[in-house]
Amino acid sequence: MEDLALKTTDLRKTYADGTVALTGVTLEVPKGDFFALLGPNGAGKSTLIGIATGLVIPTGGALSIFGVDAFAQPERARRPVGVVPQNLNVNPFEKVIDIVVNQAGYYGIPRAVALPRADAILKDIGLANKRENIARELSGGMQRRLMIARALVHDPEFLFLDEPTAGVDVESRRAMWTYLKTLTSKGVTILLTTHYLEEAEQLAKHVAVINHGTIVAQGTIDEMLALADGRTPEGEAFRGGKLEEVYLKLTQQAPEQN
Ligand SMILES: Nc1ncnc2c1ncn2[C@@H]1O[C@H](COP(=O)(O)OP(=O)(O)O)[C@@H](O)[C@H]1O
Ligand SMILES: [Mg+2]
Repeated sequence: MEDLALKTTDLRKTYADGTVALTGVTLEVPKGDFFALLGPNGAGKSTLIGIATGLVIPTGGALSIFGVDAFAQPERARRPVGVVPQNLNVNPFEKVIDIVVNQAGYYGIPRAVALPRADAILKDIGLANKRENIARELSGGMQRRLMIARALVHDPEFLFLDEPTAGVDVESRRAMWTYLKTLTSKGVTILLTTHYLEEAEQLAKHVAVINHGTIVAQGTIDEMLALADGRTPEGEAFRGGKLEEVYLKLTQQAPEQN
């Protein structure tokens, strides 16, 4: 069990308005993994991250983080977790350095410890020169990086990133990939959702595809790529990558057929 960073068993979520977001998700993310969760809008990706990070209350099922039952011992289970939510949610009028340092306060980390740590992270993530700016003076991509810095200040072992590169330009996206790779090389487990399939191809060790609240395929990136057979409706004209081909086939089928 303890070699798994995340284990979900038959996880279900129906929202108060009756929307069924997850219909029984069973998923395993090995410790140290770079795991990409792929799926179309509305598939249930953010709901899954919300449940894992304690923001969404599940309707049923089980979830453990590094072997700790997240519903029985929520605080203990979430202590090693950092999260970068899908929506930009930094206070636009707060200074960059304060946003990162104040987050450490929620984890009981003294300011004297948090300050040098925050500066080191800002430097690594390329925001050192924005230290004294307020958040709204940053570009969208920079605010996204600021959210990553904030998520890292308590030294989490497991980082959840919900579409971290959405709307980020190609260069910044590549820089973010490099940075995320250095995190996994230090042993941090990463679960990321993305719409950019080439991002998953570049980064992920394991991939799961979710559609209509159900996992329709999961495996190593090589196992997923092996599902490509070159037969697409576009034939020779198809110019996407192999993962894109597999993804389209998995998500364009009616859910009943999976
Ligand atoms: N707070 C909410 N109340 C009602 N329905 C919601 C809520 N949040 C998400 N949903 C619905 O749940 C489904 C899954 O949404 P979400 O997890 O955000 O998908 P994704 O992140 O893959 O786009 C969608 O149908 C969405 O409209
Ligand atoms: Mg989402």
